[in-house]
Amino acid sequence: LFAAVEMAPRDPILGLNEAFNAEKNPAKVNLGVGVYFGDDGKIPLLAAVKAAEKARLEAQPPRGYQPIEGTPAYNGAVQNLMFGKDSELLAAGRAVTCQCLGGTGALKVGADYLKRLLPDASVYISDPSWENHRALFEGAGFPVKEYAYYDAATRGVNFAGMKAALAAMPAKSIVVLHACCHNPTGADLTVAQWKEVVAAIKERNLVAFIDMAYQGFADGIKEDAAALDLFAASGLQFFVSSSFSKSFSLYGERVGALTIVTDSKDESARVLSQVKRVIRTNYSNPPTHGGAVVAAVLSSPELRQMWEDELGGMRDRIRAMRTSLVANLKAEGAPNFDFINVQRGMFSYTGLTAAQVEKMRADYGIYAVGTGRICVAALNTKNIGYVAKAIAAVLK
Ligand code: LMR
Repeated sequence: LFAAVEMAPRDPILGLNEAFNAEKNPAKVNLGVGVYFGDDGKIPLLAAVKAAEKARLEAQPPRGYQPIEGTPAYNGAVQNLMFGKDSELLAAGRAVTCQCLGGTGALKVGADYLKRLLPDASVYISDPSWENHRALFEGAGFPVKEYAYYDAATRGVNFAGMKAALAAMPAKSIVVLHACCHNPTGADLTVAQWKEVVAAIKERNLVAFIDMAYQGFADGIKEDAAALDLFAASGLQFFVSSSFSKSFSLYGERVGALTIVTDSKDESARVLSQVKRVIRTNYSNPPTHGGAVVAAVLSSPELRQMWEDELGGMRDRIRAMRTSLVANLKAEGAPNFDFINVQRGMFSYTGLTAAQVEKMRADYGIYAVGTGRICVAALNTKNIGYVAKAIAAVLK
């Protein structure tokens, strides 16, 4: 049965963790996976999460099955966070939300449902995009193509190219967009550009699938949902995958959500019934703990404030690391890296080649994604000098 099975390549991101764990260099640094570490080099357990977990442990709730789509408390909290609690779209019952296994799980449920709805469509992802987007949509049976996005020369968005690509897409194509903190480039659209994207999607009759894994990591919770506000106001139907892995530092709990915006309450009920079939035949219903913790934090004014402060702290620390990396690189005599201060979110697309990334790994035990993406949120006051020295050295 297995004699002819070939070894699959390592995952380009999570596979780095496996290699990093086996790395012998005592000075090793993992800038591969998108995980936030504190200045102490550890993944934080947020105080708001700790408080909600303590209360939950004391309440000793039974561990029955959750509803297929997750609980109303969690799904409602997700919707309020994305669209604001006074949203007209929500009041009209136009949004359907299902708790899913992280942002990846939400993308997969959405992709499987879309395959039933639009079996002949193509999916368009940004060039470049998160490594898993292509594999995930291809795995769901779609041909995956790219639209122009990043301009290596300006280190910004090639917006003219993106608009031209949107204008050439066949009707009913699925367009995967990054709401904020574009992964891997850190180059985001401005609000004015988002307006044009929404208009193009409407005009071409495309289906937007918005991936929002980093809400709160660029400018703030509300600010980072600006694209969603525009989509909500447009009257379009669209998909959103969202995640609390990063914003709640709950990576391993797999807490995410798929939200689908329809035309009406009646449509929402029918769509939900179909998405539930996708979930039921996949993993039946979501796990309890992470979603319950997030719902408890978001529904308590006190814990929510605590969480927002902690999220703000993570955002500020990432910014400080950006500034410090640029200064350290300057001190090491590296070429100009000022663009790192302009990029947003956890990542920096450094421009390092695959060969330079490999040299950093071999000579310094520093791990980055082969495309040159580094996770700025893994830098700290102790490793930043070492990382800057390594980058400057491999560039020589
Ligand atoms: C990343 O891009 O590193 C994160 O989103 C983690 C992942 O699942 O790839």
